Amino acid sequence: MFTNNTDKIKKIITVIMCLIFSAAVSFAGIIGIPQRLENYGEDYLYRKLDGISENIKIIGIDDKTLDILGPYSDWNREYFADLINILNEDAENRPEIIGIDIIFSGTNNSDEDTMLAETVAGYDNIILASVLEFDNRIVREGDNFYRKTYVSNEYKPYDELAAAAEYGFTNSLNDSDGIVRKAYSLIDEEHKSFAYLIASKISDISPYSINEEIIYSTIPGEIETVSMVDVLEGNVNPSYFKDSIVLIGAYAGGMMDSYKVPCDYSKEMYGIELEANRISAFLNNKVVNDIPEYAVFIIIFVFSLFFCYLILTVNIKSSILILAGFETGYILLSYLIFRLFSVKLPLVAVTLGFVIAFILSLLYKYVELLRKRQAETQTMLFSMAEAFAEAIEGRTPYNANHTKNVAKRCVEMLDYINGLHKEGKSEYHFSKADKKQLYLAAMLHDVGKMDVPLEVMDKPTKLGTKERELRDRLSIIMLKLQNDILSGEKDKTDAEKEMEKIKRFIDNLGAFNCGRPLKDEEWQIISDMEDGSYIEKDDIHIKAGTLSDSERTVMQSHVVYTDKILSHMTFGDEYRNVRAMASNHHELLNGKGYPKHIDADGLDVMTRILTVMDIYDSLIADDRPYKKPKPVNVAFDILDEEAKAGKVDPVIVGYARELYYTE
Ligand SMILES: [Fe+2]
Ligand SMILES: [Fe+2]
Repeated sequence: MFTNNTDKIKKIITVIMCLIFSAAVSFAGIIGIPQRLENYGEDYLYRKLDGISENIKIIGIDDKTLDILGPYSDWNREYFADLINILNEDAENRPEIIGIDIIFSGTNNSDEDTMLAETVAGYDNIILASVLEFDNRIVREGDNFYRKTYVSNEYKPYDELAAAAEYGFTNSLNDSDGIVRKAYSLIDEEHKSFAYLIASKISDISPYSINEEIIYSTIPGEIETVSMVDVLEGNVNPSYFKDSIVLIGAYAGGMMDSYKVPCDYSKEMYGIELEANRISAFLNNKVVNDIPEYAVFIIIFVFSLFFCYLILTVNIKSSILILAGFETGYILLSYLIFRLFSVKLPLVAVTLGFVIAFILSLLYKYVELLRKRQAETQTMLFSMAEAFAEAIEGRTPYNANHTKNVAKRCVEMLDYINGLHKEGKSEYHFSKADKKQLYLAAMLHDVGKMDVPLEVMDKPTKLGTKERELRDRLSIIMLKLQNDILSGEKDKTDAEKEMEKIKRFIDNLGAFNCGRPLKDEEWQIISDMEDGSYIEKDDIHIKAGTLSDSERTVMQSHVVYTDKILSHMTFGDEYRNVRAMASNHHELLNGKGYPKHIDADGLDVMTRILTVMDIYDSLIADDRPYKKPKPVNVAFDILDEEAKAGKVDPVIVGYARELYYTE
């Protein structure tokens, strides 16, 4: 009666949950949430540390150089002129490019500055460095205004030197976590980066977008470096630099030119190594390729959807395997895509998303399990109640469906009242839980009848099976009286009078033994017999119905037994009122019911409904041994009388009439 068609709803919920979750993970992947973790995850997985181009050589201004030549701030620019000359000295072995990552801005117009400028001008393979300063300004394009970053200043080589060679800027692009993942290529034709300028001299590379995420080829300190002082002192074979890109720059901590890089968090990379990595990246196309966001979205969405659906539909053990499989599969796929196409798929957002989906699926399964258990408990409780009803009704052939009928009518009544409530015609409204409670209470209301002897419960007439016994007993008394007359023990006239009384009773016994109320003259005959102590009160002293007072007490005790039996059952919070409703179904609003004589204040509306439905079903029952069924209109007339007498709720009787009585 109360089973739900939840399977379909469950499937729909599962699909909706999967869709929402997949969309959330996909968005997180595109936006890069959680950003820090995403960066770290990607830095760790997406690496190609296969070394920079072999022809890139570094001459470092290292500690050894500083020890010998003195602090950099005191340096004579002649050192650089000397270095350039040494490198270019031998036409056979000269480098293809000499990139000097030193900012020669400002001049005191000394001879050494002129000398450096003249030296540089003497060769065509020198690239110098500058640093740009950026600013924002609001620009207007049609009706739209937007913020545009522009170059506000450039710390470039002093004029004389700047005229002697090309120079590129060496700015670094730090992410919010201070790590340099991106590199500028060029801002415009005037402003090319140092690395891009050098790379484009070597190879015909197409310009990248302004800032490219480059793929590092080395970790800090990995590139072989020669000390500047060693070159100056002629300790390095000139052929070492033949046709190479020689980069000259700071290689000592004190020169404050080092950066955090994604390929190794433990140490910083010198600016000159960074430039070497950038040049190598530009030359070898080791730049992260962007794929459209919608493509990223689709990949993650499909993966997540498939994953969610699987873990929600399999058991917990399998879902652990699926989690492990998907995590590994996704990481491998992402790594493969990176290696093949230099595309970075979001890593942490997705792998973390899988874990979160897994945890949520466990919660979902746990809640489902609880719900299933609850449903099973309910089914168990209801089936037990049905078994009880079967047991009660199986004991007697009479009114075999009373319990089930009352339960059915109670539910019909609540539905009817809820319908009225919807139309604003009733103040009462009952929840699904109320309905279940009342149904259960109705199924159990007469369970105490299991303790009532069948001869009382099924007694069809006032004497039941006792008529014969009574007849025999009275015949013996008659014989005894006759004997007393013959033996002279009793006065003949008196004895004959007594015998006459008994005979009249015996003659009427068949008529007395019925289910109808007895007439006054019949009562007189019975009273005479009781006065003469020929019969006991219990024998036939029954004005209405078929039960004697003591039998009625036994019959009425069924509600006490109902209460006693139900006191052994645990109903839990959901069915907390079942016992009270079932045990109180014979209580009346005027307090004259039984067994506890509870009055209106103690009888809630559901108990009142149970009482009315119980009486109604008894009145119209067509299989009671002691009475004929009442027509529905008569049953309601009786119920109206009971309501008028303050026994049952007139409102409920009214609803019942509306529901069941059609003229
Ligand atoms: Fe009852
Ligand atoms: Fe009943």
